[in-house]
Amino acid sequence: MAAINVAILALAFLIMFPISSHVTALSSNYYEKTCPQLETAVTNAIKNAMSNDKTVPAALLRMHFHDCFIKGCDASVLLASKGQNTAEKDGPPNVSLHAFYVIDNAKKAVEAMCPGVVSCADILALAARDAVALSGGPTWDVPKGRKDGRISKASDTRQLPAPTFNISQLQQSFSQRGLSMEDLVALSGGHTLGFSHCSSFQNRIHNFNATHDLDPSMNPSFAASLRSVCPAHNKAKNAGATLDSSTAAFDNSYYKLLLQGKSLFSSDQALLTTPKTKTLVSKFAASQEAFEKAFVQSMIKMSSISEDLPLTPPSAVDSNFVAYFAPDFIKAGHDHLCVIGLAPKHVAFKDEGGITAVDFNVGKSDRSGFKVTGKRKKNAQHFESNTALCKVCTNSDSYIVRCCVKGSLLEVNDRLIKLPGLLNSSADREGYIAIIMPKPADWVKIKSSLLSLAEYKKLRDEAS
Ligand code: HEM
Repeated sequence: MAAINVAILALAFLIMFPISSHVTALSSNYYEKTCPQLETAVTNAIKNAMSNDKTVPAALLRMHFHDCFIKGCDASVLLASKGQNTAEKDGPPNVSLHAFYVIDNAKKAVEAMCPGVVSCADILALAARDAVALSGGPTWDVPKGRKDGRISKASDTRQLPAPTFNISQLQQSFSQRGLSMEDLVALSGGHTLGFSHCSSFQNRIHNFNATHDLDPSMNPSFAASLRSVCPAHNKAKNAGATLDSSTAAFDNSYYKLLLQGKSLFSSDQALLTTPKTKTLVSKFAASQEAFEKAFVQSMIKMSSISEDLPLTPPSAVDSNFVAYFAPDFIKAGHDHLCVIGLAPKHVAFKDEGGITAVDFNVGKSDRSGFKVTGKRKKNAQHFESNTALCKVCTNSDSYIVRCCVKGSLLEVNDRLIKLPGLLNSSADREGYIAIIMPKPADWVKIKSSLLSLAEYKKLRDEAS
């Protein structure tokens, strides 16, 4: 597959990405006039369903999370496969989603009152809030005004975080959606509700690694009890375990158990592997109130994810530079600076563990080994657009990143040698790779060969 590099080229006079024009603000009173009874209708539908089935709240909370993490909260998770198209719903991580009928019922009740007004995405966001509140958790005002999407592809479910993820993979997955490490820890508290099938934690209880059959970070008697319900060649389709000991109550016992080595997924355990996330786990284990406060804040953030709306404030690069994308590599030139980085969908990010090393010692010289000084850019090396800039390595592969633009290499980001993880967490910020200064005469020629953000997104959608 062609490596997709991104060249972010500076144009001092052109400031923002066009994305700001797509922004639709959500608001709490969005349906105040057009569907005032909306929330009561949704709450009643959830209450009805819960009276027959205690697993409904967990299902709705996870459904909303899976909706928001793919193309934003646009109800694409609710769409059915049709003709040649296999929808998100039928992608591997979503086959265990359930209780779709509850959203259908809520939608029917809402349509009967105010036809054609309320989006399914808003109904799902309200249902997730009600699921938490009706399980004894906090409640909050849900900002509304989401638009329903029409695209739903099973292949996109690969973008969901996996239960085997380590902390840097989780961080990358969340930060790509504008969510912080605090959001990660607070939202993982959703695992206070519900159930998991054996397959999601099988990696920890059988053949964990070359030296351990069981994940040594697990409490041994807890691990043994999981092994008894989930034997190595488990045939029972519905076998599994509850995510915490009070599965229908929204409380902070998930964090208490996590500290005792009694969590199900590697991704839960991973929250204890950095000081920052561990401190938050301890804080939430000690205080239900602190957990609830953080959970509400992070849920509002998560349920506002939109394909077009980045949640973090724009970085200096976003504000002052225009992004262009090079599907392979490009030729460019201008006397403005070009910041070269990896595109969010670069294949390297898909490898298990993400990027683990960056090597600037490529071609005939070590790109990190020279310093450019002064106004005249003394020592600047001149490179062609296809010259190798560095090599990014993952656990299974390595990828050459090319200059993308013809010009003088002014700086490489040698922090990446010690901190390759910056590429996983913030490739468009601190994780940039290099700065190149093209010649003015070359610029016009190369600009036409680059893709705009919109063109890049289209290409990306077609490729997936
Ligand atoms: C941090 C990354 C996350 C990973 C890797 C993850 C993974 C999983 C997995 C593997 C399951 C069990 C699926 C099965 O075997 O049936 C599950 C269940 C669940 N997850 Fe997560 N999850 C994550 C974050 C979240 C978030 C952010 C929420 C909501 C705020 C959430 C809410 C739930 C709930 C409620 C269930 C139980 C579903 C049920 O009983 O039907 N998870 N999760």
